[in-house]
Amino acid sequence: MRSFEGTRIKDMALKNRFIRSATWEGLADDRTGRILPRLIDLLTELAAGGVGLIVAGYAYVSEDGKANPYQTGIYDDDLIPDLSRLTASVHQAGGRIALQIVHAGIMATGGFDGGEAPAGPSPVENPRSKVMAREMTAAEITRVVDDFGAAAGRIKKAGFDAVQLHVAHGYLLSQFMSPFLNRRGDRYGGSRENRGRAVFEAYEAVRGAVGPNYPVMIKINAEDFVEGGVALEDSVFIAARLAEMGLDAVEVSGGVLWAGRMGPSRTKINEPDQEAYFRAQGEAFKAGVKAPVILVGGLRSLDVNEDLLARGQADYLALCRPFIREPDLINRWAGGDASPAACISCNGCFKGVMDGRGISCAVTEKARTSDG
Ligand SMILES: Cc1cc2nc3c(=O)[nH]c(=O)nc-3n(C[C@H](O)[C@H](O)[C@H](O)COP(=O)(O)O)c2cc1C
Ligand code: SF4
Repeated sequence: MRSFEGTRIKDMALKNRFIRSATWEGLADDRTGRILPRLIDLLTELAAGGVGLIVAGYAYVSEDGKANPYQTGIYDDDLIPDLSRLTASVHQAGGRIALQIVHAGIMATGGFDGGEAPAGPSPVENPRSKVMAREMTAAEITRVVDDFGAAAGRIKKAGFDAVQLHVAHGYLLSQFMSPFLNRRGDRYGGSRENRGRAVFEAYEAVRGAVGPNYPVMIKINAEDFVEGGVALEDSVFIAARLAEMGLDAVEVSGGVLWAGRMGPSRTKINEPDQEAYFRAQGEAFKAGVKAPVILVGGLRSLDVNEDLLARGQADYLALCRPFIREPDLINRWAGGDASPAACISCNGCFKGVMDGRGISCAVTEKARTSDG
C-alpha cells in the first residue's frame, strides 16, 4: 500500500506517509511555555504507535504571540534543553518529530510589545473575542519575522527533524493573507503579492536560520470560509511562490476558528464521502504548487487515505483527532485491522486542553469514568 511506503523530505527519512498534524497538547507550563514531562510521554507513545512524522503542537515564537493557555513556548534559548529531551525520546521510539511555530497576532491572549492590545496586520476586532487589535508597524513586522527565524534555529538545535510555520486558521501569518483582516496600504497589504510578503519574509528568516538542507514546511489555509477571507487563488499563489523559494512541503488545511461548521476541525464525519473535506483544495495545490502536499481534515479510513494518494490529491496524509483517541492507529492499520479510526470527530477533546488537564479523548475518558 502506498500509505506505508518509506519516503523522504530532504534529509528526513520517513517510514510511511502518515503525519500527526500539529495539535495544541496543553502540556506546557502556562507562565513560561516550558514543556512538561507528560508531553514527552504522550509524543513518545505516539511515535511508538507507528506514525511517520509527528508535528508537535504550535509553539509561540515570542511572548506576545501566545495563542492559548498551556501552550509550548520556543521564544527563548532556555527552553531548548527540555525540548531536546523530547526529541531524543521520540527518536529512541523510532519516530520523527517536527515543531510547528506560530505568532497569534490579533488572536493573542496578551498585549503586544509591552502594550495592552494584541496587534496584527490592521486595527480590526478579533472576530471571536471582540477585542480591538492595534496595527503592527513595519518595524514590528520585522521583529516578528526575526522571531520566527530565531525559533527555527532553536528547533534545529533541540534536535527536531523539521520545522513547520503555521500559516493557517486565522493566526498572524494567515491574518496577513486575508483581505478582511489585512487592510494595510503599505507593502504588506493590498495585492496578493503584498499579502504574502510577511509569509515570504518569515519563510526566508526560517530558512536562513536552519540552512538549505533542513526540511521547512508550512500549514496553510487553502480557504478561510468566511466573507472576505483567504481564497484558494491567494493561497495557491503564495504556496507556489514559497515552493520556488525552496519550501519542502505544504500542509493544506482551511477554515478560521470563527468559521463555525466550516472551521478547521469539522464534526459529523460519519461516511467515507464526508472524510477528507479539503480534498478538492489538495488537488488544486497538487496542480499549482511544486512541493509535496500534505492533506489534513477528516481523514478517517485507510481506503480514503489510499484513494487520496491514488488520485494524486495528496502526497502525505495528516490526522489530528484520530491520534488523540488511538495513538497506535497506524500500527493497527499496518497489522491488518483496517477498520476506520475510532474518533467520532465530536471535538470534546478541546475542553480538557483549555482547562489545563492536557489533551485526551473525552469519549475515552467518559467510558473510563463510567467503568470505574
Ligand atoms: C485539540 C486540537 C488542537 C489543535 N491544535 C492545532 C495546532 O496546534 N496547530 C494546528 O495547525 N492545528 C491544530 N488543530 C487542528 C488540527 O491539526 C487539524 O487541522 C484539524 O483538527 C483537522 O484534522 P482532523 O480531522 O484529523 O482532526 C487542533 C485540533 C484539535 C482538535
Ligand atoms: S473527544 Fe475523542 S472522539 Fe471526540 S474528537 Fe476528540 S479524540 Fe475524537
